[in-house]
This record gives sequence, structure tokens and C-alpha cells, in this order.
Amino acid sequence: MEKIIDETLQGQTLVKEENKSNSKKLYIESYGCAMNFSDSEIVASILDKQGYNTTNNLAEADLVLVNTCSIRDKAEQTVRKRLEKYNAVKKDNPSMKVGVLGCMAERLKQKFLEEEKIVDLVVGPDAYKDLPNLLDEVENGRDAINVILSKEETYGDISPVRLQSNGVSAFVSITRGCDNMCTFCVVPFTRGRERSRDPKSILDEVNDLWAKGFKEITLLGQNVDSYLWYGGGLKKDFKKATEMQKATAVNFASLLDMVARAQPGMRIRFSTSNPQDMTLDVIEIMAKHHNICNYIHLPVQSGSDRILKKMNRLHTREEYFKLIDDIRSIIPDCGISQDMITGFPSETEEDHQDTLSLMEYVRYDFGYMFAYSERPGTLGAKKFKDDIPESTKKRRLQEIIDLQQKHSRLTTEKHLGQVEEVLIEKESKKSDLQWSGRNTQNTTVVFPKENYKVGDYVLVKMNECTSATLIGEAVGYGPMQSTLS
Ligand code: SAH
Ligand code: F3S
Repeated sequence: MEKIIDETLQGQTLVKEENKSNSKKLYIESYGCAMNFSDSEIVASILDKQGYNTTNNLAEADLVLVNTCSIRDKAEQTVRKRLEKYNAVKKDNPSMKVGVLGCMAERLKQKFLEEEKIVDLVVGPDAYKDLPNLLDEVENGRDAINVILSKEETYGDISPVRLQSNGVSAFVSITRGCDNMCTFCVVPFTRGRERSRDPKSILDEVNDLWAKGFKEITLLGQNVDSYLWYGGGLKKDFKKATEMQKATAVNFASLLDMVARAQPGMRIRFSTSNPQDMTLDVIEIMAKHHNICNYIHLPVQSGSDRILKKMNRLHTREEYFKLIDDIRSIIPDCGISQDMITGFPSETEEDHQDTLSLMEYVRYDFGYMFAYSERPGTLGAKKFKDDIPESTKKRRLQEIIDLQQKHSRLTTEKHLGQVEEVLIEKESKKSDLQWSGRNTQNTTVVFPKENYKVGDYVLVKMNECTSATLIGEAVGYGPMQSTLS
């Protein structure tokens, strides 16, 4: 999920419109996955009501918050460097308060607050509603901490303020936490058990975004296919639900159907799908609605059955191929992307070759690839020795990156000569004479502006490409433009 956000957003301060009645300044920086960026919008909304406007000027901030990521060691190191920077600025502005939010909160609370004394406030992902009380504690000179993980919190009742938005695309979170327990992954420990958000509050948020002029939403969850609403409570307690609750439960396919029908002019994307939970009814609903984009982020992590088992990924290589075949038979032009980990404990050259051959079979449009980073507290760290030398991890990583680049180029080239619908999101980074948007498969498309504007659905003829970007020219409005009038 983490790469579905624009790379340029990583670590940026996010700013909302100024609320004139607010007098204090909040500087909030976010790292990691899209869920963190979405959570920062919830935090900004809660603090707006406490009198804070956002700023991108660190020196003038009354409160500095960093929304942190623990997924790999490198992500944690980045945040540590930022905390050093904030503390340096704080020397000139001693009344400034510094707080840590998100996934590093639980793991490093003691260290940050007591041993190193580099923060005033530590708040876990389920405790943001407690921020007003915690800030009072800080005002009274006490350290403030709440890292309690909740069984119910989904923030369904909070209307997020959109931070540094292009006014076109927005994230809408639908589940929190994860129950999958992949052995390499820290998320179930930092974000807690999986729970789903009330579909009514999701629909309300989508309708509100449409009314504000947004044209694309991404439904977010660590594992969206596992979405299940039956009146509240944890996914794992569904078996205890009443007959009535079971009969009226809403799964991911029906949620997608509801959202797509509610706003036919809104493009709908979702992330992330776990192969073990993705069902054919989801793919069929995607095929049924033009406004659900033909793109699935389907992390596989490894092509070796032996490694998949050790990772506690509950599917085999063959089952994954079957899923890919089913997707392609129902939606032939579907874009598919992967996440892959190299150098998982005990990974042999043969396992690595299995990963490369799986990639050859699928030919992904995009991919996000990582060297295994042992995370304290995970099952992987407890059960397996991190025994693959760094140099081997790096070499294998480079091999899969090279192969992915080759495939990305080939899949991008396949669009050449085609006319495809593109939603205009913003000006191209390279030229102020060009628009930038994406086709349904999530590939970036740039083309001359002419008289089109941000938020238009335009048909673009694809003339040239680099490995990741299509370059074209507009030939008229797309079918979805008619939903806008
Ligand atoms: N279900 C989530 C996964 C979050 S983590 C999602 O929605 O994407 C995102 C990716 O980070 C994972 O798919 C995995 O490829 C990678 N990752 C997670 N833990 C890792 C670790 N310990 N070392 C290296 N990469 C890891
Ligand atoms: Fe992590 Fe696996 Fe869940 S990668 S977020 S435990 S699906």
C-alpha cells in the first residue's frame, strides 16, 4: 500500500486551508503507507477543533507531529533523523511541543519519552481522539502517552480535512488493523486487530467528497478484500454475530458495488488486496462498473511455495497463478502490480529463481520490491534467523528490480496507439504546458493542456512512452465526462 501514494509526498508537511478562528500552528509530517497519510488528515481534523491551523514552516509551529512507519528499519531511521531536526529547532523555540504518532509509537514509547527525552507526546494509531486530553497533559508539564489499540475505533465519525490535496483524488479508509500475521510484518502489532468501518459512514464520506468536486477515491485497508461489516466489532468475532447480523453483513464486493452505484462519476480504486482473501465476486463487480478502475495491487512477496509458507501467506504459487488467470479472463486489460521481499530467512537461489519465474508468468505493470528487514516482535524475528547476507539480498533485489523494469516497459508499450480515458489530476512536473493524470490501469499519462482542465475525463491517444509514463494527445472528452454535468 505504501507506494500508492505519490513519492513526492513522503515526508512532506501537509497543509490544509486556513481556518480564520484558529490561532495555533500545527506542523505535521507523514511517512510510510497511504493509511498514515489518511490518518494525518483525521488528526488535522481533530486538532482543527482545538484551534490549530497547519503550517509548512517548522520554525513557527506550536506543535510538531510526525506520523511514523515501522515497516522496515530504514523507515524508522528516517524518522529518528527528523526527530533530531525538530529538537534542534526547538532549542530556538522552547515552547514548541513535539509528538510521535503512528506505528513507531507503541514500540519506542519508553525510549522516546523517558530514555532519550526527545518527544513530549506519543500517540498510537487508535488514540487520536485522545489528542485534546493529551495536549492538556503536555500543557501542564507532563509527558503524555496513549498507545492503546482499540477493538472498535475506525474514526468513521470524523470527517478528515484534506491536506495538500489536488482537489481530485482522496483516500477513504475502510478497515483498520490486520489479522493476517504474515511472519515478516509488524503491522498487526502496531495497528492491532482488523475492524471494518460502517458502510454508511463510508458512503457519506464519498458523497461529501463528490459534492466538494473530488473525482477519484482510493478505498484503503491493509487487506481490503477482508472487509466485513456486520454492525461493529472485530472481524475475528464474526462467528459470534446474530443470524440477523450475518444476513445483513456487507462484504468488500457489496461495498464496492454500493460505492460505484452511489457516485457513477467518481473513479474508484482500492488498496491493498491480499491474494488469499481476494474473491471472484470482487473481480466481477469491477468488470460490471466502468467507474471502478481496472487495476489491482496484489502483493505476492515470493514466488516460492516453501517461502510463502514460512511467511504465513496462505496461498500457493499455483493458486496465485489461478487468481491471475481469473482476473485476466474477466478483465483482460487489468493492470496488476506486486510487492516482493528478497532475502527472507533461508531463501535459496532456487527460491529466488521461483520468484523470477513467477514474475515472468504474471508480467506485472508495476512492482515495489524490498530487501527483508527483520522487525522486532514479529513471528519471523522470533522463529527464523535473518541469515541471508546483505550482499545476497541486494543482488537478488537488483535482479528482480531489473526484471520488473523490463516488464514495466513492455506493459507500458502495449498502450501505444490506443485511445484511453484519463482523469486530469494536476500539471505535469516537467512542463507547465502539459497535464498529468492516469489511465484506468494506474499508469501516468501526460499530454498538452489545450482547453481541458483539472478534474476532466479526457480521451488520450498514446503516442510515446518511457518505462513508466505514457505521452499522448487529447482527442476529446471521455465517457465519464457526461456524468459531470
Ligand atoms: N497489507 C499491507 C502490507 C503493508 S506493508 C499493504 O496493504 O500493502 C507493504 C509492503 O512492505 C509489504 O507488502 C511487503 O512487501 C513490505 N514489507 C513488509 N514487512 C517487511 C519487512 N519486514 N521487510 C521488508 N519488506 C517488508
Ligand atoms: Fe502485513 Fe500481511 Fe497484514 S503484509 S499488513 S500482516 S496482510
